[in-house]
Amino acid sequence: MKILVSGGTGYIGSHTVVELIRAGHEVVIFDNLYNSKEITLDYIKNITGVYPKFYKADMLIPEEMEPIFKENSFDAVIHFAGLKAVGESVKLPLKYYENNITGTINLCKLMDKYGCKKIIFSSSATVYGSPESCPITEDFPLSTTNPYGTTKLFLERILSDLTVPDPEWKVILLRYFNPIGADESGLIGESPNGIPNNLMPYIMQVALGKLPELGVFGDDYDTPDGTGVRDYIHVTDLALGHVAALGRIDKTEGVDIYNLGTGIGYSVLDIVKAFEKANNIEIPYSIKPRRPGDIAMCYANPAKAKEELGWEAKFDLERMCKDSWRFAETTLKNA
Ligand code: NAD
Ligand code: WQD
Repeated sequence: MKILVSGGTGYIGSHTVVELIRAGHEVVIFDNLYNSKEITLDYIKNITGVYPKFYKADMLIPEEMEPIFKENSFDAVIHFAGLKAVGESVKLPLKYYENNITGTINLCKLMDKYGCKKIIFSSSATVYGSPESCPITEDFPLSTTNPYGTTKLFLERILSDLTVPDPEWKVILLRYFNPIGADESGLIGESPNGIPNNLMPYIMQVALGKLPELGVFGDDYDTPDGTGVRDYIHVTDLALGHVAALGRIDKTEGVDIYNLGTGIGYSVLDIVKAFEKANNIEIPYSIKPRRPGDIAMCYANPAKAKEELGWEAKFDLERMCKDSWRFAETTLKNA
């Protein structure tokens, strides 16, 4: 199939492009390079042998977007492009609502105009808010605690509404849990600007000696060791989840929703210990107060994706830690 990947030079997008190419799909990428770099295309070529067609285009600027659809005919769109920093979204809500929501509406208008009505959308476990229990199934109640999360919830709704008057629209909403790790080449991975907010990128900076220690946000949660529990999933497994979803999208009637997680919850201290063991590097840490807005526990029931998409995560925590570190050593060290 010929697939348009929005945000395809970003962290999850680039890994998905690699797996799409490996699976024999033709890929076209657009990205405004706000949070990624064009050199990622060279890395994709190194990994796959294919340099994907690329448009530097902003979803908010329809004139930059229209040529992509004029010059190509797509079977489906995989839509990663968006802003994703939770804390920033609280400070700059309009920026998030405009970029993520207006941007997606612009994209969908062009899809409609050019007759490409199949979309796989990057949603997030954040739409489950503070879940009453774990593991979480797709029918759990939805709520959000920050503007970023609200953009995901609204977009799930907007995309679902498209399918009501026009059955040609087929929408798959993928709710990701916590992606970490990197392609085994060590060439592509997550490299946030400035001091990282997320756990694994922060651990990487400590391991590289660029930050002195990890702050563990709370050790008094109602979890086995008191620290927060999450469902960490290897980004390559996540990428393969998109390939599986694409393989089934023709069967989708209206909207299908899938959790993409491993189904296993690990605590912050589990991650620290696993990283230390996998890479033989000590991660100094100290306990800090809880981070506002954090929840105690969040992990998936991924059974629906297994049953309907034939997909399940296969990489374990040791592999996630090794691959994260390989990317940091290969590529992040000099960044
Ligand atoms: P990322 O920032 O690495 O990738 C997003 C890409 O979108 C970037 O390359 C950025 O330049 C591009 N982009 C942003 N606004 C754009 C615009 N207006 N026009 C064109 N391109 C634009 O983020 P990621 O971690 O790869 O996340 C991909 C998607 O998955 C996002 O929608 C994110 O919200 C979602 N998601 C991420 C996580 C996570 O923990 N990383 C978890 C759940 C969901
Ligand atoms: C994981 C655990 C922290 C940093 C976020 C978004 C969510 C989704 C994924 C996009 C928590 C603890 C962290 C640190 C720590 N993104 N931690 N010290 O918060 O589960 O999810 O990314 O959709 O929407 O909210 O991920 O990696 O920030 O935190 O102790 O320096 O690590 O308290 O328990 P989170 P995270």
